Amino acid sequence: MGDDPRTPSSGIPLRLAEDDLERPSSARVYDYLLGGTSHGAVDRRLGRELVDAEPLVVPIVRENRSFLRRAVTFLARAGIDQFLDLGSGIPTMGNTHEVARRVVPDARVAYVDVDPVAVEHGELRLGRVTGVTVSRGDLRRPDDVLATPAVRDVLDLGRPVGLLMFSVLQHVPDGEEARAVVADYLARLVPGSALAVSHLSGDDPRVDVGALRRLSSAYPRGAITPRSGGELAGIVAGVEIVAPGLVFAAQWRPEPRRAGDPDGEPCCGHRAAVGFVPAR
Ligand SMILES: C[S@@+](CC[C@H](N)C(=O)[O-])C[C@H]1O[C@@H](n2cnc3c(N)ncnc32)[C@H](O)[C@@H]1O
Repeated sequence: MGDDPRTPSSGIPLRLAEDDLERPSSARVYDYLLGGTSHGAVDRRLGRELVDAEPLVVPIVRENRSFLRRAVTFLARAGIDQFLDLGSGIPTMGNTHEVARRVVPDARVAYVDVDPVAVEHGELRLGRVTGVTVSRGDLRRPDDVLATPAVRDVLDLGRPVGLLMFSVLQHVPDGEEARAVVADYLARLVPGSALAVSHLSGDDPRVDVGALRRLSSAYPRGAITPRSGGELAGIVAGVEIVAPGLVFAAQWRPEPRRAGDPDGEPCCGHRAAVGFVPAR
């Protein structure tokens, strides 16, 4: 694994713009932290700095992925067969369509991310999967996202949709905008649709969120904005939250530990919730 920023650790060449080569991206650093293969030297450098500053960052991102798996499985079992995955990141193990299709074999998924590399890798890896699309979009623009042909191709907005926002809303600095954007999507979805959210916590005493926030200022779109449980409750207020409510990700319907699972207690970092759009 060379330290030339153009050298990805995967076999897939990264076609980065000059700006992207200079600065780490959230999608690629997250991929590095998850042990993926789609990142450059600049991303690995920031990833290592994050781990040095707060070693819990690795269990935090793993628990978020694990929450994604449990939440999507739950929603598929509840009858949701189409998903809009906003801020979907670089495809890795256990992507939304793979998880959903274990329950609903023909589940459809529209992945949307603002990061060109995440979209490019998504297209390369998932582009030929029937019923799955990957497109570039800014989740803060619901009109544009929902009008994107790639989204319209796979989602029928006349039927319930699972709206997924995993570890992405901390990239929206303005709390009122984050709340309003979620409310805007929910208003366009039919009753019976669902929302699953995880969000980096700003008030978890176990985590040095100050360090994570400081280091994340290297991202081109600026530092992340972790939020308190109260702030997140306001963001998900438009849905009827299912048990166990708004909790730390590891506490959301945990599965029994299996032989071979990594040691260690459930950790921390993201708060998470799942709920359904009520009848109007
Ligand atoms: C920490 S990663 C989470 C990836 C995936 N959702 C997961 O939980 O495994 C955050 C992702 O959100 C994307 N993102 C950040 N701001 C966004 C925005 N305004 N619209 C769409 N995607 C965004 C980043 O590019 C990145 O891929």
